[in-house]
Amino acid sequence: MASPLLTYDASAATRYLSPGRLDQLRSSIEAARDETLNDVTLWQSGEAVPKEKDPLDAGFIQWPEELLLNLNEQGDDSLVARIERCAARLRETADSVVVLGIGGSYMGMRAMFEALNNPFHNEQSREERKGVPRIYFEGWNVDSDNQKALLDLLDARAAAAKDSSAPTGRTAVIVISKSGRTLETAAAFRNFRALLERRFGDDVQQLIVPVTGDAGRLRDLANDAKFEDVFSIPDGIGGRFSVLTPVGLLPAAVAGIDIRSLLQGAADMTEHLRSADYGSNAILDYTAVSHAFEIDQGMTTRILSTWGCKLEAIGLWYDQLLSESLGKHELGATPLTVVNTRDLHSRGQQHQEGRRDKLITNVLPGQTSSEPLTLPGREDDFDQLNKFADYKLPRILQAAIDGTNKAYADDNRPTADIALPTINAHTVGQLFQMLMLATVVEGRLVGTNPYGQPGVEAYKKNMNAFLAES
Ligand code: PA5
Repeated sequence: MASPLLTYDASAATRYLSPGRLDQLRSSIEAARDETLNDVTLWQSGEAVPKEKDPLDAGFIQWPEELLLNLNEQGDDSLVARIERCAARLRETADSVVVLGIGGSYMGMRAMFEALNNPFHNEQSREERKGVPRIYFEGWNVDSDNQKALLDLLDARAAAAKDSSAPTGRTAVIVISKSGRTLETAAAFRNFRALLERRFGDDVQQLIVPVTGDAGRLRDLANDAKFEDVFSIPDGIGGRFSVLTPVGLLPAAVAGIDIRSLLQGAADMTEHLRSADYGSNAILDYTAVSHAFEIDQGMTTRILSTWGCKLEAIGLWYDQLLSESLGKHELGATPLTVVNTRDLHSRGQQHQEGRRDKLITNVLPGQTSSEPLTLPGREDDFDQLNKFADYKLPRILQAAIDGTNKAYADDNRPTADIALPTINAHTVGQLFQMLMLATVVEGRLVGTNPYGQPGVEAYKKNMNAFLAES
């Protein structure tokens, strides 16, 4: 169901900027927005891209709208319907699904799963999960113990299943790699594929779903091996901007997430970028405030302060997005995600009294998704908490948020808020698109191409060279 749009409020921060500073930024921020949106036209035209804009992966901007239009026009033949059919098939055939991928082919799915599924999903029975498989993530490391533990678990489940054709003991694998040659994912795929081949023989063609670019080793395999479903990662959408392509939508649909609402939330945010004025535009205002504090006051650390366990993985997804997009030419703010109140007992000390190089943006979760818990009273009042008896937990959380913001304000440390009405597919879609658009607008503002990640190649080259030598 559609929720209202998230809001961005920096009123507690702007008093630390020089008077008129945000007004002064207006024209350059609006120009950066226009450039961001015009890049879509340039990208769609197929014309040669100027060197400073190469690569130009602007396809993510209008993609959610295109996909919803395609669904409207093509119905059962649309990409959304095809993803949903494949997800339903996997749910019926397997009770465990392993999603293999790294970076942009991993972080977004994990973020959605943690934000939108029961935190103890994998511990629930199949009935409690309403037939949604247990979901695991691998292929994002080269950690032998971690991978072996999962392989052993899935192998034991297959061995224990009385009926080898029933979903209970069966595992499916969604292997995601745009290039099809990322070593971590490819190495994990070998092991998980071998397990599936050993346990399920010819059924692997139904149990493995590649999601990949139009060329590469994984694409070649997908063409040769005749898997029942294969999905393409569209050209012109870079890895960390691909969460709302089949990269994220297929695992999300398997996990029972409403992918149409995700897309609608993102489409609404793109429209917000186009139509809302500076000063009441969450994307432009977030960009302007973050940029002004970085340039004027050296606040080069951007803390995404998430107020709920469900939001932490979205923060980690954003860490990648900001780092890989703007961490170039010896520039770019450093993102850092915290989840509170946990990290108030950890990083909180430094944020309160450490260097004044941090801008804190709270991400507020809004209404709880389930009936709020109450603090129970006790006759013995052993911990003297009866004074708060019958308080709902969200009230205690709000006091923590207010108390923390006040502590920062009392020491002249700026905070801003991104407030979600609640956490659901529609608002998570909004938040993804808001942060992706803001990252690109900021890139255009400061003259850094937000697309591409040439720096990531260096370690890959060395790693392969060391492997070849050893
Ligand atoms: O943002 C990016 O493009 C990267 O983080 C990639 O997603 C990551 O390196 C994985 O690449 P691939 O999907 O080709 O395996």
